[in-house]
Amino acid sequence: MAHLTTTLYPSYLITGASSGIGYALALELAKRARAADVPLALALTARREQPLEELRVAILNIHPCFVVVKKLDVTAGIDAIRTCIDECHAAIGPIHCFVVNAGVAALMREIGRDDDFAVDAMVIQTNLLGAMGTVDAAVRYIKRNYVNKLGPGAHIVGISSLAGSMLLPRFSSYSVSKAALNTYLRILALETRSDNIAVSILKPGYIDTPINQHMPTRPFMITVARGAELIASHIADKTAEAYVPGWPWTLVAWIVAWLPGWVILFLASSAAVEGDNIGSAIGSKKKKQ
Ligand SMILES: NC(=O)c1ccc[n+]([C@@H]2O[C@H](COP(=O)([O-])OP(=O)(O)OC[C@H]3O[C@@H](n4cnc5c(N)ncnc54)[C@H](OP(=O)(O)O)[C@@H]3O)[C@@H](O)[C@H]2O)c1
Repeated sequence: MAHLTTTLYPSYLITGASSGIGYALALELAKRARAADVPLALALTARREQPLEELRVAILNIHPCFVVVKKLDVTAGIDAIRTCIDECHAAIGPIHCFVVNAGVAALMREIGRDDDFAVDAMVIQTNLLGAMGTVDAAVRYIKRNYVNKLGPGAHIVGISSLAGSMLLPRFSSYSVSKAALNTYLRILALETRSDNIAVSILKPGYIDTPINQHMPTRPFMITVARGAELIASHIADKTAEAYVPGWPWTLVAWIVAWLPGWVILFLASSAAVEGDNIGSAIGSKKKKQ
């Protein structure tokens, strides 16, 4: 049933759908499908199953979608990710769009400062290796099942970050994870150029989610519902690369790229407090620790 009705309309797999952006995006996609009166199939994954079950119920209250929820730890290795995708396919039919969203952030840490390298390793494991594994498994699935040749075509969406475009003192692992993800997805876009597999790199600034709710400053923050609306629009348009929201982050990222290192260091050291994040390095005025 799902296989027949969703062949003409995009279906989505979202990693990290148990919270924040992934959760809100699933609701937004359901609202859009209801408004357009079209079928929708969703595969929702994360490590925590309870919030995924709650999300499934919330989605079904909006629109009678085909929804499967699956437990997936993106650090569990490529075989676990492939198996999850195959199980989702068996449940809802062809999956056209993969939203590679699962991610974690680390508290501020200067390189070499203490013994906490394990935290940096976990950030890379999740945000970079987990994302690369998800993308690799998704592209393999798309090609093996000819998803790129049929219906709405195939689409890989990476939820990167503004942090991937900047040199942020004390946010090395998070910035590196997102900068490397950007590079990886740009290479994928070149490799799949003639394969009808669209690639989108979406780079949020501050969106109000649990990943940053402990932070003392979150400049230009938007609500998670607004963030999900913007991200859903970029997905619909198959935007190649964009900041979310575009204003003011496109301008801020451009300016910061031209700043000399001493200015970045000055801003970071005069603005930062422990536990703060990317805003501290781009000029939010906070007391020195
Ligand atoms: N919010 C922002 O301002 C902002 C800005 C820039 C970029 N981003 C990016 O947006 C993405 C979503 O973040 P968010 O803001 O929505 O934060 P969030 O509310 O903390 O959500 C993070 C999601 O990732 C999942 N996750 C974490 N580790 C995982 C793992 N090993 N395997 C599978 N799932 C995992 C979590 O689910 P479980 O714990 O259930 O596994 C959760 O659903 C992240 O990649 C983040 O870097 C967010």
